[in-house]
Amino acid sequence: MPSISPKAVADAVAQALSAISGASTGDDLKAVRSAFVADASPIAALNAQLKDIPADEKADAGKLVGSARAEINQAFAAREAEILAGEEHGRLLAESVDVTAVASRRAVGARHPLNLLMEEMSNIFVGMGWEVAEGPELENEWFNFDALNFDEDHPARAMQDTFFVEPAERHLVMRTHTSPVQVRTLLGRELPVYVVAPGRVYRTDELDATHTPVFHQMEGIAIDKGLTMAHLKGTLEHLARAMFGQGAKIRLRPNYFPFTEPSAELDIWHPTFRGGARWIEWGGCGMVNPNVLRAAGIDPDEYQGFAFGMGIERTLMFRNDVADMHDMVEGDIRFSQQFGMVI
Ligand code: PHE
Repeated sequence: MPSISPKAVADAVAQALSAISGASTGDDLKAVRSAFVADASPIAALNAQLKDIPADEKADAGKLVGSARAEINQAFAAREAEILAGEEHGRLLAESVDVTAVASRRAVGARHPLNLLMEEMSNIFVGMGWEVAEGPELENEWFNFDALNFDEDHPARAMQDTFFVEPAERHLVMRTHTSPVQVRTLLGRELPVYVVAPGRVYRTDELDATHTPVFHQMEGIAIDKGLTMAHLKGTLEHLARAMFGQGAKIRLRPNYFPFTEPSAELDIWHPTFRGGARWIEWGGCGMVNPNVLRAAGIDPDEYQGFAFGMGIERTLMFRNDVADMHDMVEGDIRFSQQFGMVI
């Protein structure tokens, strides 16, 4: 009759326990289970021998093998729990999000301050019921000069340094000011008109701290029955205060433009100028010359109006204390971002 030696049981237990403690993953555990715990394991083989041993040894041998199996099963269950917990912990760590981490940001860019300023100025007029119009930058000489009462060989034509565009017989220019939009507006709209036209203009200037060959202006034109210089002044005063605060005021000084009569230079009293409050030249204005009205088929005895125009770069310079024109044309986003991200 075979018997079960306590040494064989102890060996089976020792092997199983060492294998169990050496397991570190779920896969290890599976292999350990089939080799040292399950049916083909040494301890299971010993257990199977129980039925063949003499009856008087059975009780002791049964106890011995039973407690050995229990010990192995317990050790296995404990290791299994540890490994599962470890894997769960690892997964949680891998999936965890550090809410205190600095988010990586995509640079969103910024709108150009000149565009923001044109929009701000346009909105002030929209608030008074005016409309916003546009005209082409490549313009007919007729709109840029002739219709605005610049004579063929009037010296005023030379006042503006024009980019003429070839071929010469097409009489195209890069518009030197936004005033041609005055005439386009009068030809294209029903009277009365109250229109502002912001946009890009061109002159043959060298780029330096205060000049650029491509710049922006905002034109305004109002044609209605009975408009006077007082309406012009009131309108510009409103613009000045809306942009520079209640302390702002304007001043008109006599000047000459072929398309307005009388004409004036527009100065603004800038109450918060960095070097102290002062008068600053801002633009030109005047009552629309009857010849311009006639060029647009309007009877000057029935309708009158005023017009004005100012440079946007210049406005940005003295409003926001920008010292050098290069900053406005170079497109460095760090310049634009100082003006905020307005959508
Ligand atoms: N177009 C003129 C200029 O560029 C400004 C202006 C506009 C003057 C409207 C009078 C009326 O200098």
